[in-house]
Amino acid sequence: MDQELSGTMRSISINSNGTTKQQQQLNGHSMKTAVSCGTDEIDNVRRVTATIGGDVDVAKTTNASKTPASAATTTPSPSLIQQQQLQQSLPSYASASVAEKKKMVHELCQQLLLTDEQVHELCYRILHEVRRGLAKDTHPKANVKCFVTYVQDLPNGNERGKFLALDLGGTNFRVLLIHLQENHDFQMESRIYAIPQHIMIGSGIQLFDHIAECLSNFMADHNVYAERLPLGFTFSFPLRQLGLTKGLLETWTKGFNCAGVVNEDVVQLLKDAIARRGDVQIDVCAILNDTTGTLMSCAWKNHSCKIGLIVGTGSNACYVERVEEAELFDAPDNRKPHVLINTEWGAFGDNGALDFVRTEFDEDIDTHSINPGKQTFEKMISGMYMGELVRLVIVKMTRAGVLFKGQDSDVLNTRGLFFTKYVSEIEADEPGTFTNCRLVLEELGLSNATDDDCANVRYICECVSKRAAHLVSAGIATLINKMDEPHVTVGVDGSVYRFHPKFHSLMVEKITQLIKPGITFDLMLSEDGSGRGAALVAAVACREDVLNSK
Ligand code: BGC
Repeated sequence: MDQELSGTMRSISINSNGTTKQQQQLNGHSMKTAVSCGTDEIDNVRRVTATIGGDVDVAKTTNASKTPASAATTTPSPSLIQQQQLQQSLPSYASASVAEKKKMVHELCQQLLLTDEQVHELCYRILHEVRRGLAKDTHPKANVKCFVTYVQDLPNGNERGKFLALDLGGTNFRVLLIHLQENHDFQMESRIYAIPQHIMIGSGIQLFDHIAECLSNFMADHNVYAERLPLGFTFSFPLRQLGLTKGLLETWTKGFNCAGVVNEDVVQLLKDAIARRGDVQIDVCAILNDTTGTLMSCAWKNHSCKIGLIVGTGSNACYVERVEEAELFDAPDNRKPHVLINTEWGAFGDNGALDFVRTEFDEDIDTHSINPGKQTFEKMISGMYMGELVRLVIVKMTRAGVLFKGQDSDVLNTRGLFFTKYVSEIEADEPGTFTNCRLVLEELGLSNATDDDCANVRYICECVSKRAAHLVSAGIATLINKMDEPHVTVGVDGSVYRFHPKFHSLMVEKITQLIKPGITFDLMLSEDGSGRGAALVAAVACREDVLNSK
């Protein structure tokens, strides 16, 4: 799924009680794995030492101060004027007092804090956009596509057997062999392969040949080369599904841009690549999104799990919807009342619906991204962008002389080098201490920071991560309210949720405020949704096959 290991192959063995052998650093976040590197390992693992643990068809505007009519009561960001004043008077703040500097930072960050009114407006707009995605007439123009997943059955706990899974959607690609056993027991062997940058932006043929090669090597190494196994393919990009084993890529996200894949059937591309090799036999039983995998993986143990959420490199959610609401679903079996919907909410705001809360920093991120104008919501939330957002605020404050006496560094000035894991690390410092913060600043070449600088940097991190948590919460509360069930468990995965010290509690607090009285919810950390979830979707599909063939 989206573990951000900037390296290549890692073999991981894990069983149902989660026991593993070795502590591995995932983008600076720790994760328990049993690591055994293969000979074909590419040696570029980055090791990090710090471990911590209305109708929203509005024309797109680019100015954060523009307040759409439906949000007329929303207070415009007061900080824009202050920002302009700041810009005009650079860098005279170097000699300002500690209190004045703190005030400057807090004032600049004001635009990152969402008022209750703004969050309510967001819920309203998200619901509107979800409805537009579900309805036939409005779907073509909707940003939140609400793709039908064709998954109609949640696991019942009786799924058994040996399955292969592929997991593509983050910096790495994984192949897994999963053995589902009785009593929610399972055995899982997996290996992580890097997707080199040239493949991420190369041709689709190259990408799928690489995937098929990794799959073949994995099968050989795990003594299943000669077996014909069912396979679930977790493909974590917007996919217009036409069936459980057919889906056309809508657009690439998260830094991928392989030519010749958009509008193509991704399952066919995989089968073609496997056929080109001609060495292994695979039955692709299902293609799914990582949110679906997460939901299925949690629902295997907890039957109230009806939403799957990812806050990692990217962000997205899926949920259980009533068939009659999913107008695009050509239901193969009318007796089943529900279907999973992959919202693809990362694209929310691409039509300007988020402009009333966007900032100059969001604008900057978008302009310099590989997909300008796309994935607006995701760019305000997910791990691919969070560190960069913090960096942009720090750079601005440094240039104004408010931070580090105005002294910057080459690393600080380089895009992409303030990793999102730094945000988690800095916020994991005990109140009043700045141990991790100083380590991070040293990595950035900023070794003369005062405690006051550290406190200000930490505040910037808190504002960026709190905004992300509140945006995600607005989305989740909207789905919970729409489902209108007495209790919903939300299965969650992704590096930001998993490793940020406060993301979970920020979400619990905000969702509680936003859901209808009488509804309860909980957030459940998913155990390897993309891997086990893929096996479960494949298993449920096989279960169906068996039933249908009777
Ligand atoms: C993709 C989604 C995916 C999410 C989390 C987004 O960029 O469009 O399909 O679920 O990232 O990985």
